[in-house]
Amino acid sequence: MDKKTFYITTPIYYPSGNPHLGHSYCTVAADVMARFKRLVGYDVMFLTGTDEHGQKIELNAAKENLPPKEYVDRLVAEFRRLWDIMDISNDRYIRTTDGYHVAAVQKIFRALYDKGEIYKGNYEGWYCTPCESFWTETQLVDGKCPDCGREVKLTKEEAYFFKLSKYSDRLLQLYDEHPEFLEPESRRNEMISFIKSGINDLCVSRTSFSWGVPVDFDEKHVVYVWLDALTNYITALGYGSDNNADFKRYWPADVHFVGKEIVRFHAIIWPAILMALDLPLPRKIYGHGWLLFGDGTKMSKSKGNVVDPQILCERYGVDAIKYFLMREIPFGADSVFTNEALINRINSDLANDLGNLLSRTTAMIEKYFGGKLPQPLESAVADNELIFMATSLREKYEHHMDRFQFSSALTEVWKLIARANKYIDETMPWALGRDAEKANRLACVLYNLCEVLRIVSILITPFMPNTAPIIAQQIGAREDVLTWETANKWGILPVDAEIKKGDPLFPRIDVEKELSELEKCTK
Ligand code: MSP
Repeated sequence: MDKKTFYITTPIYYPSGNPHLGHSYCTVAADVMARFKRLVGYDVMFLTGTDEHGQKIELNAAKENLPPKEYVDRLVAEFRRLWDIMDISNDRYIRTTDGYHVAAVQKIFRALYDKGEIYKGNYEGWYCTPCESFWTETQLVDGKCPDCGREVKLTKEEAYFFKLSKYSDRLLQLYDEHPEFLEPESRRNEMISFIKSGINDLCVSRTSFSWGVPVDFDEKHVVYVWLDALTNYITALGYGSDNNADFKRYWPADVHFVGKEIVRFHAIIWPAILMALDLPLPRKIYGHGWLLFGDGTKMSKSKGNVVDPQILCERYGVDAIKYFLMREIPFGADSVFTNEALINRINSDLANDLGNLLSRTTAMIEKYFGGKLPQPLESAVADNELIFMATSLREKYEHHMDRFQFSSALTEVWKLIARANKYIDETMPWALGRDAEKANRLACVLYNLCEVLRIVSILITPFMPNTAPIIAQQIGAREDVLTWETANKWGILPVDAEIKKGDPLFPRIDVEKELSELEKCTK
């Protein structure tokens, strides 16, 4: 039987500066989700990429005296390098400057024009270049862009328009019939009031600059960058080309992860374009929150307060950074990033809770039994609570993961880790070790701890793909006992598995010293 498919996307990033931690946030979340679905057994397509056209890029390139393509090539290489460093498991990477995408956008634009969904008119309005957004006079806040607060420019030109307004009712119906289409719920309410306040037709071409996809039947126009960008989700699958097998296989997308400020584009314009093309709609748009920096502003390169994810990965390892991003910030909410919170979490959750559980367990098996447990194992009623908690964890974890509540999923895993550490204090293996008659009871206690570690290592795989195999290796677990199917079973690890203590998973960090070191890096 064919596997069920799961198609997940990140936004495509503007290569208008080096990638920062804010960009990594969404990509890491999508990576975690993709890895989780693969673990469960889905046929996953995970797409990310770069949004390379538009006036902002053209202007940035001009400032550096570079042709736009050369300018983006250099930055795109930075993005791709970062995803490599961060072990991002995307199946495909789309660049909107790729020839196949450009051709498909032209085809889509023409098809919409031929169907009467796009028409020619005149545009007059305010344009925010950094956001690539048009605004009406009334939408401006103190004469500035309502999204970013920067200067806007009065623009008047001949342009093509997409008949967005005619989709108002269908969009409201979509929200009504499919409340799950946009989450979290607060974002949905915003969109509904936005639509109800009246939406205008959308200007979808520009003549004031040339760095974009040319409208092939009217070459002085380039396609509006958001129309160009949104269609990446289908062109990457071959829509609009001769080879559209992947489109047939994976579309509609299961979820588009997007930051909250671009929900509007994904939850209004994108479904309307798909309706106009008579294509199925994505199953879900999920609008996540922002990583805020110290003073509570959105972390962004234009404000000069960037934290370089590469530096953090080099210092603490990529798994620790991914763990932190997913554990500290409930997906959907905003959260302030601080170096101190990062270091504290590494120390408490990773070095102490998880690292110590592993090192204590493996050290005791080496010390008392030379790395191999004796049999038979002598169980006791005192084990039941731990076993119940461990075997019922997978279901809770899956529930949260399917709702993109990564932080809650990890919290559940860490509850089990805490319980296992408490189990060590309760059963006092060091005391059992002093009494030769208690060897089989001691073996059972240590085996139970290994089983907990086995289940933990399976469930943290999507978040910490480098750490999970190290744990598995130290407790002697092979692949067949590391599957999703075995994550809610007990007694799966062979009792005679070879157990070997390794280096600390996450060395403890000296907070004060590290904070001052980090300060030097961010200047
Ligand atoms: N190119 C458009 C997206 C087109 S998708 C068809 C774009 N690019 S962007 O580079 O400005 O932003 C890409 C994503 O990064 C957005 O979802 C945005 O929310 C996210 N982030 C940028 N800074 C962020 C934080 N500080 N925190 C969390 N996410 C942030 O918009």
